[in-house]
Amino acid sequence: VKRVTTNTILAMKANGEKVSMLTAYDYSTARALDEAGIDVLLVGDSAANVFAGYETTLPITLDHMIYHASAVARGAQRALVLVDLPFGEYQGTPEDAFKSAVRMMKESGAHAVKMEGGIEILDNIKKIIDAGIPVCGHLGLTPQSINKFGTFGVRAQDEAEAEKLKSDALELQKLGCFAVVLEKIPAKLAKEVSESLSIPTIGIGAGNGCDGQVLVVNDMLGFTKDFKPKFLRRYMEMYDGMVEAATKYAEDVKSGNYPNESEQY
Ligand code: KIV
Ligand code: NA
Repeated sequence: VKRVTTNTILAMKANGEKVSMLTAYDYSTARALDEAGIDVLLVGDSAANVFAGYETTLPITLDHMIYHASAVARGAQRALVLVDLPFGEYQGTPEDAFKSAVRMMKESGAHAVKMEGGIEILDNIKKIIDAGIPVCGHLGLTPQSINKFGTFGVRAQDEAEAEKLKSDALELQKLGCFAVVLEKIPAKLAKEVSESLSIPTIGIGAGNGCDGQVLVVNDMLGFTKDFKPKFLRRYMEMYDGMVEAATKYAEDVKSGNYPNESEQY
């Protein structure tokens, strides 16, 4: 199979083909999503939430992210593996950011990194791109800044924040980012930004005008029990299915129904 590269992703924008992206944190999930033909597997720092059970993405470490990314990379034959640099590992000096990105690339086998923010981290992104590491931007609701925002609500609803976002998106493109994630912003703004760029925008809660879409895999599979924001479409009810299966298994063990004759040696 032919590997999806950042050039493939850029060509999709040029050809008007939408980019499909889902998160993945482990080998088995990566295999299934790769077989389904998902273009990009994002090893999101949302692992802090849905894998580890933290309230925010702040606690996850570079070592944790390397571990998740290496598992996903081993499961992905075709998909481009994109990985989040975690909070605190790229917002310092450009050298700090560069070291984090290099460790990630050397130790995980991922193909590109994602960083949250615009103008504030431009020099840091540049240092990484100059080293030959593809970078995806992330604007709008950037969860690593939750303590600044105070809520996980829709961003860029006022003129000032919308203008900054538009300018940040252009700066990220100028720097050489191959894509930019737009999280939880008005659909109208996301469409406008998408039309202003030659690199693809990947939306989550950002409407249909984006050049691609991303969802947290646990959310779209219905594995996160009570998370039902307006933007989310659930393609399975995995949590309910898992409870049902485990309940049945427990009953079978208790009753002596499992294992049967053909399930033993
Ligand atoms: O960590 C993550 O899952 C993400 C997506 C929501 C874009 O950054
Ligand atoms: Na993330």
